[in-house]
Amino acid sequence: MITSKLVNKYISWFDNYVNQFIKQFPDLAENIEIKAGHCRLVSNEAFDLATNLKLTDEDILLAETIGLFHDVGRFRQYVKYQTFSDSKSQNHSELAVEVLKENNILKDLSADTQEIIFKSIINHSRAEIIPDKNERVIFFSKLIRDADKLDIWRLITEYYMVKEQKENKTLELELSNNDEISDDVFEAIINKKVVLKESMKTLNDFKLLQIAWLFDLNFDYSIKRLYDKKYLDKIFDSLPENEKVNQVRDVVNEYFKHHIETLTY
Ligand SMILES: [Fe+2]
Repeated sequence: MITSKLVNKYISWFDNYVNQFIKQFPDLAENIEIKAGHCRLVSNEAFDLATNLKLTDEDILLAETIGLFHDVGRFRQYVKYQTFSDSKSQNHSELAVEVLKENNILKDLSADTQEIIFKSIINHSRAEIIPDKNERVIFFSKLIRDADKLDIWRLITEYYMVKEQKENKTLELELSNNDEISDDVFEAIINKKVVLKESMKTLNDFKLLQIAWLFDLNFDYSIKRLYDKKYLDKIFDSLPENEKVNQVRDVVNEYFKHHIETLTY
Protein backbone atom coordinates (compact mmCIF):
# COMPACT_ATOMS: atom_id res chain seq x y z
CA MET A 1 0.00 0.00 0.00
CA ILE A 2 1.23 3.48 -0.81
CA THR A 3 1.55 5.67 2.30
CA SER A 4 2.69 9.22 2.97
CA LYS A 5 5.71 7.75 4.75
CA LEU A 6 6.67 5.99 1.51
CA VAL A 7 6.14 9.13 -0.54
CA ASN A 8 8.44 11.01 1.85
CA LYS A 9 11.01 8.31 1.23
CA TYR A 10 10.63 8.80 -2.52
CA ILE A 11 11.09 12.56 -2.13
CA SER A 12 14.32 12.03 -0.12
CA TRP A 13 15.61 9.55 -2.68
CA PHE A 14 14.82 11.98 -5.48
CA ASP A 15 16.59 14.90 -3.76
CA ASN A 16 19.63 12.73 -3.19
CA TYR A 17 19.62 11.42 -6.74
CA VAL A 18 19.47 14.96 -8.18
CA ASN A 19 22.23 16.18 -5.84
CA GLN A 20 24.56 13.47 -7.08
CA PHE A 21 24.21 14.82 -10.63
CA ILE A 22 24.74 18.40 -9.49
CA LYS A 23 27.89 17.41 -7.60
CA GLN A 24 29.26 15.38 -10.47
CA PHE A 25 28.33 17.88 -13.21
CA PRO A 26 28.46 21.38 -11.66
CA ASP A 27 28.59 23.00 -15.13
CA LEU A 28 25.24 21.45 -15.96
CA ALA A 29 23.65 22.30 -12.61
CA GLU A 30 21.33 25.01 -13.89
CA ASN A 31 19.29 22.83 -16.21
CA ILE A 32 19.40 19.91 -13.77
CA GLU A 33 17.87 22.20 -11.14
CA ILE A 34 15.24 23.40 -13.62
CA LYS A 35 14.14 19.82 -14.33
CA ALA A 36 14.22 18.86 -10.65
CA GLY A 37 12.03 21.86 -9.84
CA HIS A 38 9.69 20.82 -12.63
CA CYS A 39 9.38 17.27 -11.20
CA ARG A 40 8.53 18.63 -7.75
CA LEU A 41 5.97 21.08 -9.11
CA VAL A 42 4.36 18.47 -11.39
CA SER A 43 3.96 16.38 -8.24
CA ASN A 44 2.16 19.35 -6.67
CA GLU A 45 -0.01 19.85 -9.76
CA ALA A 46 -0.88 16.14 -9.71
CA PHE A 47 -1.80 16.44 -6.02
CA ASP A 48 -4.06 19.44 -6.70
CA LEU A 49 -5.72 17.77 -9.66
CA ALA A 50 -6.20 14.47 -7.80
CA THR A 51 -7.64 16.33 -4.81
CA ASN A 52 -9.97 18.30 -7.05
CA LEU A 53 -11.15 15.04 -8.61
CA LYS A 54 -11.86 13.76 -5.07
CA LEU A 55 -9.65 10.69 -5.40
CA THR A 56 -8.96 8.52 -2.37
CA ASP A 57 -6.00 9.46 -0.14
CA GLU A 58 -4.04 6.56 -1.57
CA ASP A 59 -4.69 7.56 -5.17
CA ILE A 60 -3.70 11.14 -4.37
CA LEU A 61 -0.36 9.80 -3.11
CA LEU A 62 -0.03 7.70 -6.25
CA ALA A 63 -0.64 10.78 -8.41
CA GLU A 64 2.03 12.70 -6.47
CA THR A 65 4.49 9.85 -6.92
CA ILE A 66 3.96 9.64 -10.67
CA GLY A 67 4.42 13.40 -10.85
CA LEU A 68 7.68 13.29 -8.92
CA PHE A 69 9.16 10.47 -10.99
CA HIS A 70 7.76 11.18 -14.47
CA ASP A 71 10.90 13.03 -15.63
CA VAL A 72 13.51 11.25 -13.50
CA GLY A 73 15.11 10.13 -16.79
CA ARG A 74 15.90 13.74 -17.72
CA PHE A 75 19.05 13.88 -15.58
CA ARG A 76 20.75 10.93 -17.21
CA GLN A 77 19.59 12.18 -20.62
CA TYR A 78 20.99 15.65 -20.02
CA VAL A 79 24.40 14.72 -18.66
CA LYS A 80 24.87 12.15 -21.41
CA TYR A 81 23.64 14.17 -24.41
CA GLN A 82 23.29 17.74 -23.10
CA THR A 83 19.87 18.07 -24.66
CA PHE A 84 16.22 17.61 -23.66
CA SER A 85 15.29 16.71 -27.22
CA ASP A 86 14.34 13.01 -27.28
CA SER A 87 14.79 12.83 -31.06
CA LYS A 88 18.39 13.98 -30.69
CA SER A 89 19.07 11.59 -27.79
CA GLN A 90 16.84 8.96 -26.19
CA ASN A 91 13.23 8.66 -25.06
CA HIS A 92 13.34 10.22 -21.59
CA SER A 93 10.26 8.35 -20.35
CA GLU A 94 11.85 4.99 -21.07
CA LEU A 95 14.96 6.29 -19.30
CA ALA A 96 12.83 7.20 -16.26
CA VAL A 97 11.44 3.67 -16.00
CA GLU A 98 14.97 2.31 -16.39
CA VAL A 99 16.25 4.48 -13.52
CA LEU A 100 13.39 3.49 -11.21
CA LYS A 101 13.85 -0.21 -11.98
CA GLU A 102 17.64 -0.14 -11.65
CA ASN A 103 17.41 1.45 -8.22
CA ASN A 104 14.48 -0.75 -7.21
CA ILE A 105 12.72 2.34 -5.89
CA LEU A 106 9.17 1.01 -6.01
CA LYS A 107 9.90 -2.32 -4.33
CA ASP A 108 7.44 -1.67 -1.45
CA LEU A 109 4.50 -1.28 -3.85
CA SER A 110 2.28 -4.00 -5.33
CA ALA A 111 2.97 -5.15 -8.88
CA ASP A 112 -0.32 -3.58 -9.89
CA THR A 113 0.65 -0.14 -8.52
CA GLN A 114 4.12 -0.38 -10.07
CA GLU A 115 2.52 -1.12 -13.42
CA ILE A 116 0.34 1.99 -13.17
CA ILE A 117 3.39 4.13 -12.37
CA PHE A 118 5.59 2.73 -15.14
CA LYS A 119 2.90 2.86 -17.81
CA SER A 120 1.78 6.37 -16.85
CA ILE A 121 5.38 7.55 -17.08
CA ILE A 122 5.77 5.96 -20.53
CA ASN A 123 2.48 7.58 -21.61
CA HIS A 124 3.27 11.05 -20.30
CA SER A 125 5.41 12.12 -23.27
CA ARG A 126 3.70 10.23 -26.08
CA ALA A 127 1.54 11.88 -28.73
CA GLU A 128 -1.25 9.56 -27.54
CA ILE A 129 -1.86 7.21 -24.61
CA ILE A 130 -1.22 3.55 -25.45
CA PRO A 131 -4.56 1.64 -25.24
CA ASP A 132 -4.73 -0.50 -22.09
CA LYS A 133 -7.32 -2.80 -20.54
CA ASN A 134 -6.49 -1.44 -17.12
CA GLU A 135 -8.67 1.65 -16.67
CA ARG A 136 -6.45 2.90 -13.86
CA VAL A 137 -3.46 2.99 -16.23
CA ILE A 138 -5.46 5.18 -18.61
CA PHE A 139 -6.76 7.38 -15.79
CA PHE A 140 -3.36 8.08 -14.21
CA SER A 141 -1.81 8.57 -17.65
CA LYS A 142 -4.41 11.26 -18.32
CA LEU A 143 -3.74 12.81 -14.94
CA ILE A 144 0.05 13.01 -15.34
CA ARG A 145 -0.28 14.36 -18.88
CA ASP A 146 -2.39 17.29 -17.62
CA ALA A 147 -0.21 17.95 -14.55
CA ASP A 148 2.94 17.89 -16.69
CA LYS A 149 1.52 20.31 -19.26
CA LEU A 150 0.38 22.74 -16.55
CA ASP A 151 3.85 22.98 -15.10
CA ILE A 152 5.63 23.16 -18.47
CA TRP A 153 3.41 26.14 -19.30
CA ARG A 154 4.49 27.72 -15.99
CA LEU A 155 8.14 26.98 -16.73
CA ILE A 156 8.27 28.21 -20.31
CA THR A 157 6.22 31.36 -19.74
CA GLU A 158 8.55 32.26 -16.86
CA TYR A 159 11.42 31.64 -19.26
CA TYR A 160 9.98 33.74 -22.12
CA MET A 161 9.74 36.65 -19.66
CA VAL A 162 13.50 36.59 -18.94
CA LYS A 163 14.68 35.20 -22.26
CA GLU A 164 16.07 38.53 -23.49
CA GLN A 165 18.41 38.71 -20.50
CA LYS A 166 19.07 35.03 -20.05
CA GLU A 167 18.81 32.85 -23.11
CA ASN A 168 18.68 29.07 -22.56
CA LYS A 169 18.96 27.12 -25.84
CA THR A 170 18.34 23.81 -24.08
CA LEU A 171 14.85 24.91 -23.03
CA GLU A 172 14.23 25.82 -26.69
CA LEU A 173 15.36 22.33 -27.80
CA GLU A 174 18.03 24.16 -29.83
CA LEU A 175 15.39 25.10 -32.46
CA SER A 176 16.07 27.95 -34.86
CA ASN A 177 14.55 31.26 -33.90
CA ASN A 178 13.15 32.81 -37.06
CA ASP A 179 9.65 34.05 -37.85
CA GLU A 180 8.63 30.87 -39.66
CA ILE A 181 5.62 28.73 -38.74
CA SER A 182 5.58 25.36 -40.50
CA ASP A 183 2.49 24.43 -42.53
CA ASP A 184 1.91 21.07 -40.77
CA VAL A 185 2.01 22.76 -37.38
CA PHE A 186 -0.38 25.51 -38.44
CA GLU A 187 -2.82 23.03 -40.03
CA ALA A 188 -2.92 20.88 -36.90
CA ILE A 189 -3.53 23.70 -34.45
CA ILE A 190 -6.17 25.40 -36.58
CA ASN A 191 -8.04 22.07 -36.58
CA LYS A 192 -7.71 21.80 -32.78
CA LYS A 193 -5.38 18.83 -33.09
CA VAL A 194 -2.20 18.17 -31.17
CA VAL A 195 0.97 19.06 -33.05
CA LEU A 196 3.37 16.18 -33.59
CA LYS A 197 6.93 16.74 -32.38
CA GLU A 198 8.21 15.48 -35.73
CA SER A 199 6.61 18.38 -37.59
CA MET A 200 8.34 20.98 -35.43
CA LYS A 201 11.13 22.89 -37.18
CA THR A 202 11.35 26.32 -35.55
CA LEU A 203 10.97 27.81 -32.09
CA ASN A 204 7.61 29.25 -33.15
CA ASP A 205 6.49 25.73 -34.06
CA PHE A 206 7.46 24.62 -30.56
CA LYS A 207 5.44 27.45 -29.03
CA LEU A 208 2.43 26.50 -31.15
CA LEU A 209 2.86 22.84 -30.18
CA GLN A 210 2.69 23.94 -26.55
CA ILE A 211 -0.39 26.10 -27.22
CA ALA A 212 -2.07 23.13 -28.95
CA TRP A 213 -1.70 21.06 -25.76
CA LEU A 214 -4.88 22.88 -24.73
CA PHE A 215 -6.83 20.54 -27.03
CA ASP A 216 -5.27 17.52 -25.35
CA LEU A 217 -6.25 18.35 -21.75
CA ASN A 218 -8.29 15.62 -20.10
CA PHE A 219 -9.96 17.35 -17.16
CA ASP A 220 -12.09 20.52 -16.88
CA TYR A 221 -10.02 21.46 -13.83
CA SER A 222 -6.92 21.68 -16.03
CA ILE A 223 -8.61 23.88 -18.64
CA LYS A 224 -9.83 26.19 -15.89
CA ARG A 225 -6.40 26.33 -14.27
CA LEU A 226 -4.70 27.05 -17.59
CA TYR A 227 -7.24 29.78 -18.28
CA ASP A 228 -6.81 31.36 -14.83
CA LYS A 229 -3.01 31.34 -15.04
CA LYS A 230 -3.12 33.00 -18.51
CA TYR A 231 -0.19 30.89 -19.69
CA LEU A 232 -1.34 30.85 -23.32
CA ASP A 233 -1.72 34.66 -23.42
CA LYS A 234 1.92 34.84 -22.33
CA ILE A 235 3.03 32.46 -25.08
CA PHE A 236 1.07 34.49 -27.66
CA ASP A 237 2.85 37.62 -26.41
CA SER A 238 6.16 35.96 -27.31
CA LEU A 239 5.05 35.09 -30.88
CA PRO A 240 5.39 37.43 -33.88
CA GLU A 241 2.30 39.39 -34.87
CA ASN A 242 0.99 38.03 -38.14
CA GLU A 243 -2.13 36.62 -39.74
CA LYS A 244 -1.34 32.98 -38.87
CA VAL A 245 -0.84 33.79 -35.20
CA ASN A 246 -4.07 35.81 -35.17
CA GLN A 247 -5.98 32.87 -36.60
CA VAL A 248 -4.57 30.55 -33.95
CA ARG A 249 -5.47 33.05 -31.23
CA ASP A 250 -9.08 33.11 -32.47
CA VAL A 251 -9.30 29.32 -32.37
CA VAL A 252 -7.88 29.22 -28.84
CA ASN A 253 -10.18 31.97 -27.56
CA GLU A 254 -13.21 30.26 -29.03
CA TYR A 255 -12.20 26.92 -27.45
CA PHE A 256 -11.75 28.53 -24.04
CA LYS A 257 -15.03 30.41 -24.35
CA HIS A 258 -16.90 27.21 -25.13
CA HIS A 259 -15.24 25.15 -22.39
CA ILE A 260 -15.18 27.70 -19.61
CA GLU A 261 -18.85 28.54 -20.14
CA THR A 262 -19.90 24.91 -19.95
CA LEU A 263 -17.93 24.16 -16.79
CA THR A 264 -20.22 22.82 -14.13
CA TYR A 265 -18.35 23.97 -11.05
FE1 LIG B 1 8.70 14.58 -19.54
